Amino acid sequence: MKKVAFYTLGCKVNQYETDSLAGLFEQKGYEVVDFNKKADVYVINTCSVTNEGAKKSRKAIRRAVRKNPEAIVAVVGCYAQTEAERIKKIPGVNVIIGTTNRKNIVDLVEKAGDAEEPLTVVRDIMKVDEYEKISPIGRTEKTRAFLKIQEGCSEFCAYCIIPYARGPVRSRDLKDIVLETQRLVREGFVEIVLTGINLVMYGRDIGNTSLVDVLERVHDVKGIERIRLSSIEPMGITEDLITALTSLPKICPHFHIPLQSGSDVILNKMNRRYTTREYEEIIQAIREKLPEASITTDIIVGFPGETQEEFQKTYCFAKKIKFSRIHVFKYSRRKGTSASRMKPQVSSEEKRRRSAALIQLSGELEKDYIDRFIGKVMKVIVEKRVKDMEGFFEGLTDNYIRVIFPLKQEKQGDVLKLKLTKRENSCVFGEPVKT
Ligand code: 5AD
Repeated sequence: MKKVAFYTLGCKVNQYETDSLAGLFEQKGYEVVDFNKKADVYVINTCSVTNEGAKKSRKAIRRAVRKNPEAIVAVVGCYAQTEAERIKKIPGVNVIIGTTNRKNIVDLVEKAGDAEEPLTVVRDIMKVDEYEKISPIGRTEKTRAFLKIQEGCSEFCAYCIIPYARGPVRSRDLKDIVLETQRLVREGFVEIVLTGINLVMYGRDIGNTSLVDVLERVHDVKGIERIRLSSIEPMGITEDLITALTSLPKICPHFHIPLQSGSDVILNKMNRRYTTREYEEIIQAIREKLPEASITTDIIVGFPGETQEEFQKTYCFAKKIKFSRIHVFKYSRRKGTSASRMKPQVSSEEKRRRSAALIQLSGELEKDYIDRFIGKVMKVIVEKRVKDMEGFFEGLTDNYIRVIFPLKQEKQGDVLKLKLTKRENSCVFGEPVKT
């Protein structure tokens, strides 16, 4: 039996797509093995959102080539789409596939031989207008299933390479989304996480449909306990969406809403099309209905021209909003984006300093948020055993608090009622309560 190994960088959409590709190989009789093992085929699903993602992608490619110089090495995804020429120069690469034509991967891999030039299938992504139907058979995660509903982004934020890597907004057929949800229930999943490149843009390409329709239809599927959403961009959060998010009971009170900056000047330069005031109004509207909701965010530090004062505004705004966690990104100059040509670029040292300050704040805010729930009874879905802690399991509350608790026997996927007893740093402990 031929062996194939995968390495995935970047976001949850990539994970979903790797799981989909794994299914295609399995259908053709391949065995999926660990990336550290010797395999006949290596697939690297790359990321290009930051220079760091690109660097890690190149490293993973070289690692695969070293593991087995005889193997076919296929490079797919965002970095393959945007930097195919550079990848071609890495010795040992046999196939390059961007963010389309992935469903033909097995054929392409089998066709690729010892040709000098790698077999390259990278379309002009700006001209692609169909949603590529690929979905996983099995999944990496066992209790929560990611479900991709949308592809592409047409926002063109000044810093971001993703519209060039993923192309314009394409929405998955609503019927297909419902069918996959039903299949997931049959496979035993109780929680689904809706993902996409820019979720809130769902339906904009087909008209008369929006993310609200997806939420309502998925909500109707029997057997689903929880629906979570990956990032929702403030530009696309409508009143109707807020109503759906705060009134459909299966939707988790946990919303990841990228802020990027707390300075209106910088937001404008970033082409974000909202002000801090509008952002705050969205958060207030959510909290009015769901006061305990977890609001998490992404912030970029060191965007070109960001002054110390503008950074300070971001810091104070984040504190005022009381995010329960902040994903901090150091601005990364991406070739081809408008921000890469803006001046002045902020020094690496300054970016590091600003990033450290925000990470520290994130830790403090996270503790404050968690402490509000200590002593309370919350529902947790049992996920997995805790490494090196005999008899202990971990799982998530609906508002995304990770809890560790004792359990006699494995009950993966079960919904338990736990009393949250204490927090040690960002680790929360719970005890089962009798129902
Ligand atoms: N530099 C740093 N961070 C970036 N992101 C997107 N592009 C860049 C870039 N050029 C971050 C944004 C986005 C997250 C997924 O990645 O914060 O929300």
